Amino acid sequence: MKKVIAITRGDGCGPEVVNEAIKILQIVSDFTDFDFELVEAPAGGEVWKKYGTNLPEKSFEIIKSSNALLFGALGLPDLPPGTAESAILKIRQGLDLYVNLRPVKLYNALRERCPLKDEFIGEGIDLTIVRENTEGLYKNIGSLEEDKAENIMLYTREGCERIIKYAFEYAKRNGHSKVTSVDKANILKPSQLWRKIFHDISKDYSNITTEDIYIDAFCQWLIRAPYKFQTVVTGNMFGDIISDEAAYLIGSLGMAPSGNIHPGRVSMYEPIHGSAPDIAGKGIANPVGTILSVKLMMEESFNSREIGNEIDKAVEDALQDGRTKDIKSRELKTLSTIEMGDLIANKLKGRLKA
Ligand code: IPM
Ligand code: MN
Repeated sequence: MKKVIAITRGDGCGPEVVNEAIKILQIVSDFTDFDFELVEAPAGGEVWKKYGTNLPEKSFEIIKSSNALLFGALGLPDLPPGTAESAILKIRQGLDLYVNLRPVKLYNALRERCPLKDEFIGEGIDLTIVRENTEGLYKNIGSLEEDKAENIMLYTREGCERIIKYAFEYAKRNGHSKVTSVDKANILKPSQLWRKIFHDISKDYSNITTEDIYIDAFCQWLIRAPYKFQTVVTGNMFGDIISDEAAYLIGSLGMAPSGNIHPGRVSMYEPIHGSAPDIAGKGIANPVGTILSVKLMMEESFNSREIGNEIDKAVEDALQDGRTKDIKSRELKTLSTIEMGDLIANKLKGRLKA
């Protein structure tokens, strides 16, 4: 099966982690029926400096005509905030990628790296944030004047319905028995619409338990009893914030993947971490979040749960042998970005050969 994958390496540590994820694609194409053609689609801060745009038209054309996009991270400290990053929003809006899928799983080997005490980790952390990705405060990025600035939190019925339905279908597919909706319906009008739609849609899924929690309370429950959550569906801004909180619970921001998805269309896969300029170029960034984004790509865009599962297992195996600095262990060798990528690639090779 031939697939064209657009590659946006981006800024900071982006190119380093994308390199490692490409090794995984290479192994998959060497040992399975998949055949990947990679096409570069540059975007971000470095590109802005050269061409005065963070997303050249040619790059967007390449992305649109590919089967999926593998994305590093954007942002440079010497540019005003947003100069590079708005390319991400252009892609999310331009391709109508309304789902931001963010699975957050604590591998057993990393239990010691979780900042929570054992009793709070309980039976473990394995939840998925389903973040609405095209509306809310991110929809029509607002205005900034000398003495006044605004963004409007806009939600439509259609926008709420499609993401909430997706969340229930995701829960069903993944054997989850509960969907949690996170909002701020005690204050915000869009949350009141959201909550009503959530309840209406939940009636079609009688086997799934539902709950709604206010965003502030959710932030507390997430560190108090993260094992309670399975599928969590929420709006754009809240989803952005709880993603970073959740990601640190699994040992490092560097561990968490994401998929920006419109089912059946070109979708974009990226680690949730940013360009991390403080560690860029040092060869110490953790490539796991990007590698797990390839896992998501295999599952969600290329319909191969099997290969996704093998990548997951390869990561799990590798974490027993060595780790990058952000998740280091006294007993194991601390690895560079490249060594970590090679280790996972070798584990995957071993598994796919067998
Ligand atoms: C994320 C990022 C982006 C967002 C930024 C870089 C625009 O933080 O993917 O979580 O806010 O969505
Ligand atoms: Mn974020």
